[in-house]
Amino acid sequence: MSNAPRYTVFLGCLVDTPTFGTLRIRHDAALGVDHTTGRILGIEEKPVLSPHKLVEQWTGTTQPAPTVATVRLTPDQFLMPGLIDTHTHAPQFTFLGIGHDLPLMDWLEKYTFKHESEFKDTEVARQFYHTVVDRVLSNGVTFAAYYGTIHLESNRVLAETIRSKGQRAYVGKVCMDMNSPEYYVETTEETLEGTEAFIRGILDDQKECAGLVQPIVTPRFAPTCSQKCLSGLGALARKYNVPVQSHLCENPSEISFAQQCFPESTSYASIYGNAGLLGPRTIMAHCVHMSAEDIAVLRQTGAGVSHCPTSNFALGSGLADVRKLLANGLRVGLGTDVGGGYSPSMLDAMRMACAANRALLAAKRERGEQLVGREGVPLDAGEVLFLATQGGADVMAMGTELGSLDAAKLFDALVVDLAADRSPVPSVQRTPAVACLHDAEEAWHVRLEQFVFLADDRNIARVYVNGRLVHSI
Ligand code: GUN
Ligand code: FE
Repeated sequence: MSNAPRYTVFLGCLVDTPTFGTLRIRHDAALGVDHTTGRILGIEEKPVLSPHKLVEQWTGTTQPAPTVATVRLTPDQFLMPGLIDTHTHAPQFTFLGIGHDLPLMDWLEKYTFKHESEFKDTEVARQFYHTVVDRVLSNGVTFAAYYGTIHLESNRVLAETIRSKGQRAYVGKVCMDMNSPEYYVETTEETLEGTEAFIRGILDDQKECAGLVQPIVTPRFAPTCSQKCLSGLGALARKYNVPVQSHLCENPSEISFAQQCFPESTSYASIYGNAGLLGPRTIMAHCVHMSAEDIAVLRQTGAGVSHCPTSNFALGSGLADVRKLLANGLRVGLGTDVGGGYSPSMLDAMRMACAANRALLAAKRERGEQLVGREGVPLDAGEVLFLATQGGADVMAMGTELGSLDAAKLFDALVVDLAADRSPVPSVQRTPAVACLHDAEEAWHVRLEQFVFLADDRNIARVYVNGRLVHSI
């Protein structure tokens, strides 16, 4: 029997954004965690009871003293939901920051396929993936949707590595059976059988490990997948009731290539839709250049969007219109898209989402477009924080379980420390804009904005997944 306390009560500031446009700052609160269930036991604003009594109130039972631990956050710390990276490629950490002078299709051919093919050797995966997962966790990502490679065994290593480090994840075996180099391609049968074997393996392992790591069906993108491959993958997603991820409308050359490969489809999105790959558990990365039909197909099927602005800037793909996607009823989260994106930081993704939105607004104004309602309002820190947390949880089809700090949700959370060692965020004392504010709530809004625009992994003090501490500085 472990002596670890069964409950922890955090005392301090809670920051989250349960709906788009709502930034909730509870600066004097108590949040209880039940480590047995991995869930938030209860939340009390301005608590008057002791942590021990709060736990008794939340559980309705008398607790012996050693079962409750207390963590008192400093005035520079706050608790927030874990960051959710809705789109990243684990093997692409091998060539981070390289080749961004090339557009997507050339970048894939010159760098991506070559580097990914090295994972044919399972030893490469064994040596490399643990540093990838450590890096993602240290950036405060509690839940990520990973692409692996086409190689079954290396993908199993990736899944096992994630599981051993306690991160929550979707892991996908990449499928490609056409328009791919001869050194990095499978037959249709191999790619479908490999996917089924991968799904079954993970679902079997899951029985022992709380299901933190889940398989996700992963056609790389329509241009590298035959109709038979796409339809077969759609059938597997249904058979095993697992999520799906792919790329959609990232770059103009890619879109015309996709249309060339599937001339009977009236839109890029319907290529996936016709194969039964779109539904409320589907994540479509990018969605930069969307036709009205692409948007309608995603809305009708309930598929979500992973906005990957760092990648879109780096590869010069274009600017996704987040406000338009949201206004059309689509769910939107954020992704790093390593290595199209050069940074595994979701904070960078948040800042880049702001930059992409500003560039888009400027271009629209230059074209003399009339911007109505919220369309002309720049995305703010709270809105991009939503995309990185609750928005991501919604896109991953886990929105009722994750994404905000609410009682009964799973405790995937971060302790942020704005005064951490070598913090890029200035201290309250040295920030006149904050120090002169007497209203505590207003001061926290300013500090939250500074967190979004200035912070990095030095400020991610502690990372919890499913009620468990999985990283600390
Ligand atoms: N489209 C197909 N494959 C990829 C990839 O690896 N990265 C990005 N950004 N787009 C893709
Ligand atoms: Fe990608």
